[in-house]
Amino acid sequence: MSKGKLAKFAEMNTFSNVFQYPFSVIQSVPFTMKGHWREQYFGNPNPIVLELGCGKGEYTVGLAKLYPDVNFIGIDIKGARMWNGAKFALEQGLKNVAFLRTNIELIDRFFAPNEVQEIWLTFSDPQMKNARKRLTSTYFMERYRRFMVDGGIVHLKTDSNFLFTYTSYMVDGNTLPLLFRTDNLYQTDGLDAETSKILSIQTYYESMWIERGLNIKYQKFRLPHAGMLTEPDVDIPLDEYRSYHRSKRSSLETGR
Ligand SMILES: C[S@@+](CC[C@H](N)C(=O)[O-])C[C@H]1O[C@@H](n2cnc3c(N)ncnc32)[C@H](O)[C@@H]1O
Repeated sequence: MSKGKLAKFAEMNTFSNVFQYPFSVIQSVPFTMKGHWREQYFGNPNPIVLELGCGKGEYTVGLAKLYPDVNFIGIDIKGARMWNGAKFALEQGLKNVAFLRTNIELIDRFFAPNEVQEIWLTFSDPQMKNARKRLTSTYFMERYRRFMVDGGIVHLKTDSNFLFTYTSYMVDGNTLPLLFRTDNLYQTDGLDAETSKILSIQTYYESMWIERGLNIKYQKFRLPHAGMLTEPDVDIPLDEYRSYHRSKRSSLETGR
């Protein structure tokens, strides 16, 4: 690990807005805030919104600044990235922000039923080879249901045509109520001012993809508690630009 990363990790251990529970400690260190984030950390009864795979946390802090009456928690396993958002939130005195460093697969260990109102997925890895790892798969939807309110909102912002198409099949196939969908966010007319303001927050990966001329896609939908969820069974063209530099190239051109 580089010196810079080690220094960030050391500093992050002192941050009051960061909780670190990777796989390696989850069995030995009890997490007592499950079901008590509002009273024990935020000190208010406001809604809780998660950003999963928050990276540097731009969305988490951006939304927190826009909505002081909502609590935001950025979640990622990469501490050196998270350090940026956590440090910024502390410097800005943002009381409605926290960061949780953990594996998203463990997420239901940190939140109790009905504790979370919304989830943001920002530029999530499309996981073209493994549907179970996709953050919009029905496997993850079942996990999210365990701690989201009934009909809680899931937002997906992505450059990936694969992930966007897969998610659209997942949403439509399971008749989850769709609230909004566009495959070219920055060329969509008629967004109301509030939506434009939220959607214009740009993450590190987003600015990278925009620079490369890729369309940014966005959809939001509700996740009701009732109803069995079925995985989409369709072939979807892989994202060419993502598989291009891989050393072990697959001969596949589509994925499920
Ligand atoms: C492509 S980056 C996007 C980061 C950020 N949202 C952005 O737009 O700049 C995906 C992020 O998700 C995190 N991630 C992916 N799978 C994860 C998992 N299973 N558990 C925790 N973090 C994960 C990675 O560490 C990475 O920071």
